[in-house]
Amino acid sequence: MKGGKVAVLVAAHDLVKRFPIRGGRRGESVVAVAGVSLDLEVGATLGLVGESGSGKSTVGRLLLHLLRPDSGSITFDGQSLDHLSSGAVRKLRPRMQIVFQNPYSALNPRMVVEDIVAFNLQPVNLNGKQRKDRVLETIRLVGLGREILSRYPHQLSGGQAQRVGIARALVSNPDFIVADEIVSALDVSVQAEILALLLDLRSRLRLTTLFISHNLNVVRYVSDRAAVMYKGRIVEMGPTKQLYDSPIHPYTRLLIASVPGAEPDASLESRERERREHLDQLAAYPVDSPLIEVSPGHWVQDPRPAGEQVGSRQAERKDNSTPMAANGRKP
Ligand SMILES: Nc1ncnc2c1ncn2[C@@H]1O[C@H](COP(=O)(O)OP(=O)(O)O)[C@@H](O)[C@H]1O
Ligand SMILES: [Mg+2]
Repeated sequence: MKGGKVAVLVAAHDLVKRFPIRGGRRGESVVAVAGVSLDLEVGATLGLVGESGSGKSTVGRLLLHLLRPDSGSITFDGQSLDHLSSGAVRKLRPRMQIVFQNPYSALNPRMVVEDIVAFNLQPVNLNGKQRKDRVLETIRLVGLGREILSRYPHQLSGGQAQRVGIARALVSNPDFIVADEIVSALDVSVQAEILALLLDLRSRLRLTTLFISHNLNVVRYVSDRAAVMYKGRIVEMGPTKQLYDSPIHPYTRLLIASVPGAEPDASLESRERERREHLDQLAAYPVDSPLIEVSPGHWVQDPRPAGEQVGSRQAERKDNSTPMAANGRKP
């Protein structure tokens, strides 16, 4: 937390994560996350957007300590996660939870809803009655009724199943949740319902959320700030509206131009021309340049080639605080 102004719940600094390539030669690896820094402010939602394979889920799992980074550091509520014992991680677990994309495959098919939701209460010290009460309270919080408790996942609609997935994440009263593509597998009408629920819960529970999606429209709807990931790096981030209204990085521009319904009046040819221009600019853009602040809270990778970036290095802060804290938060 910098200057005492903004309370930061989760802070990541320069995270790197590689995975061995399956079937590759020994030592060959893919860099899933190539130096990501971000801050999540208490009660705010940061949208993480980018195409499939850009490293979004890996960032989410690193922040939740479900994966260990190869390098870089993470703090949660002021406590470093870097060298935690497994016992200490277990103690923190109820405070940080995840909601997955596919509600059916994420829910154990052989358990009834009550047990699925209660599962995440295991590390929490409650007696049987308190446990039952807490599960029912959470089921109601996500807009479901008592009758759902005895059902199996296959007896639920897609929307109900995703509500159960959310209840399972919320039952331990977490401060931080990662919502990873939580509406991507749902029908469009159900998506809107689940997003509305998430917005409602966020303000009622003061949840801090990392909202991951490949869908720009969805991110725009729920996020205070957004970060755009491309090939393991954040290439641009800022207050959501500003990012959408004045995108700078060619990859962000490409994403925005590709949203269905963007520029409905443009002809097919002019759209294709624009897309090609963005692609050409993207190919020429330095891949690993540092983020620079172009307007308050709006950061983008420095467009200048490495040799010309002398003097722009203030963007790489040395004090472990990261650019994400800079602006764009909700009051
Ligand atoms: N457990 C894993 N083992 C090997 N490679 C992985 C693993 N998880 C992710 N990757 C690779 O890391 C890259 C980033 O993946 P991911 O974080 O899932 O991206 P996204 O969520 O943006 O689609 C991809 O190339 C993916 O294949
Ligand atoms: Mg993913």
